[in-house]
Formats: sequence, C-alpha cells, structure tokens
Amino acid sequence: MHPRRLLPQAGLSIVTEHVTGQPRSEPVSRTRPPAATVSTPTTPALAAFQREVLARGSFSQDWVTTRFSSWRPILEELENRPVQILEIGSFEGLSACYLLWRLPQARITCVDPFIGTPEQAGLGTPDLEQIFDENVALIDSSRVRKLIGDSGHRLLDLADEDARFELIYVDGSHFGLDVLVDASLSWQLLAPGGVIVFDDYRWNYLGDDPLLRPGKAIDAFREVLEGKHELLFANEQVALRRSS
Ligand SMILES: C[S@@+](CC[C@H](N)C(=O)[O-])C[C@H]1O[C@@H](n2cnc3c(N)ncnc32)[C@H](O)[C@@H]1O
Repeated sequence: MHPRRLLPQAGLSIVTEHVTGQPRSEPVSRTRPPAATVSTPTTPALAAFQREVLARGSFSQDWVTTRFSSWRPILEELENRPVQILEIGSFEGLSACYLLWRLPQARITCVDPFIGTPEQAGLGTPDLEQIFDENVALIDSSRVRKLIGDSGHRLLDLADEDARFELIYVDGSHFGLDVLVDASLSWQLLAPGGVIVFDDYRWNYLGDDPLLRPGKAIDAFREVLEGKHELLFANEQVALRRSS
C-alpha cells in the first residue's frame, strides 16, 4: 500500500512547515498568496534576492532561503556556465527563482503536478501553476522548462530524451518510497561530477516511520551508492556529488 493511503488509517493529519519553521496542519484559504515572509536576510546576496525577486513576486511559503548558505560552494562552481538544473517539486517557484537569479546562464527543468498534494493540503491555490509562471517570469521564463505531472512519470520522459543535469534539487514528495524513486531516477539523469541535493532530510512531522519521511530513504540510497558518491553536506538537506 502506498504510504499516502496509510495516512488516514494511521489517523495522521498532514502537516506542513510554515514560514516561521513551525509545523502547521490547518489549511490556508486564499486565492492569491500574500507576500512572502522570509527569513531575515543574513547576507547582501539574500537581501538583494529578497528586494529584486521576493518582494515583487507572489510567494506564500518560504521553505528554502535558510538553505542557501549551504548551497553557496555548489553554486559558485556552476557560475558563468550554461548548466542544466532539474528541480523536483517547484510549488510557487521560490527555489527555482533563486537558481535562475543566482545562475544567469543556467536553465532549469521544473517538475510538479501543480495541483497540491497531501503534504501541501490547503496550501496550493487553484492557480498554483499560474503563480509559478508569473514568479519565474520575474527573472527569465525562457530558461525554464515546466513539466507538469509527478516525478515518477516525468523523469522517465527525461531519461527517454537522454537528458543530463549538473544539479538536481529533490524537493517533491516527502514519502520514503517516493524519495527512493526520485533518487533512483535522478541518479540516472545526473552528469558525472554533478550534484544532487535532497531537501527535508530531517523532516519527520508525520512520525518516524521510514515510509512517511525522506531521511531513511536518503540513507538507504547512499548505502546502495557507497563508493560512487561524495557527501558534500548533511544538515536539513543532504548533498551528494556523483563520482562515477
Ligand atoms: C515543498 S514544495 C516545493 C517548494 C519549492 N522547491 C520551493 O522551495 O519553493 C513541494 C512540491 O512538490 C510537489 N510534489 C509532491 N509530490 C511530487 C511528485 N511526486 N512529483 C513532483 N512534484 C511533487 C508538490 O506539488 C509541491 O509543489
């Protein structure tokens, strides 16, 4: 049985992380996201991103700006290169916008059903896809390829195209088996020397069942790939460089 079906049986409600970092289970009712309340900018670059992008866009949730400091060495390596990035889970496009803004030569492929999922219950608006479109257009829509649907299907399409990516950001489903699917399919799409970053390594708002959290799946994936990757960092996220 898919873990999503286990949730009601286990009496679990869906919990998401609010911009304050606190778990939240109540749905948010809105047709248009309010301006994002992001973490206080701690660097001039983050302040510039907030001023130039966040303040002008429609972002209701910030799940990512606190991660940018860990990304810095990875993104510095990709500067001034026409690299290909894959993002699994884009929501309103905040992380995609940052990558587009930070790497002006990069192109990004964004995979998301844009319909909201159990984990984002109540957060997705009916016009989530349009909000994503408008947000990435603040920077450069021409460098964005949007693939609508779940990663299990869309990543197979990318494999059929022989697509290759220098950076893959996995921020879709939090369920363990889905993370294993995302990890396995992504690895085949990752260029040698490329980096894969998993979000929510320590996310466990649904409990410690490995089916209901990403962490154990990421650990298992690393074990299978022992000797074939370098661990770049492990905190709230895990970043691996593909060595072969
Ligand atoms: C936490 S949000 C992504 C946030 C985004 N990366 C950011 O930082 O702004 C997770 C997104 O993953 C998407 N998602 C969930 N399961 C997915 C799947 N199997 N394939 C692709 N996207 C998925 C959801 O629709 C949601 O928009």
